[in-house]
Amino acid sequence: MINEKMLAALNRQVIWEMYSAYFYLSMSAYFESTGFRGFANWMRVQAQEELFHAMKFYDYIVSRGGRVTLLQIDQPPEEWASPLKVFEDVLAHERKVTGLISGLVDLAIAEKDHAAWSMLQWFVNEQVEEEENAEEIVKKVRMVGDEKGVGLLYMLDKELATRVFTPPAGGAK
Ligand code: FEO
Repeated sequence: MINEKMLAALNRQVIWEMYSAYFYLSMSAYFESTGFRGFANWMRVQAQEELFHAMKFYDYIVSRGGRVTLLQIDQPPEEWASPLKVFEDVLAHERKVTGLISGLVDLAIAEKDHAAWSMLQWFVNEQVEEEENAEEIVKKVRMVGDEKGVGLLYMLDKELATRVFTPPAGGAK
């Protein structure tokens, strides 16, 4: 059983995760259009991870006997001033999602929903990784911009071309 407050909040989170996938796929399309195919690949994998997150919430709702309601997904931005700006937006977005997950944990505590609390711990840990990954790339892109310029940016692009999607540890549920 899941109470209505928790159900509504988790349904909103499904859409947030779907929006995150949209957001990163839009960044991927932007990078495809600017020739940074490695960055595009990294964003595409990031979008796949977000869909995995969405389905993890979806499956949890189902497993608790709740009804998944698919709400509207906003249109993401499609243009950025520079690769650095894109990655800064990734970091800002992940920080926002961390705040949303914290809000869900607070709600689970307030509603004494121990099962939701337990499921959410996976996301608490995942957000540490999400922020760390984004911070690392922002630092690298900033350093490249500060020192040697575009040549190093293309080297970083090559590095990010190697990222592949592997379902995160912890399974789909
Ligand atoms: Fe679903 Fe990137 O957090």
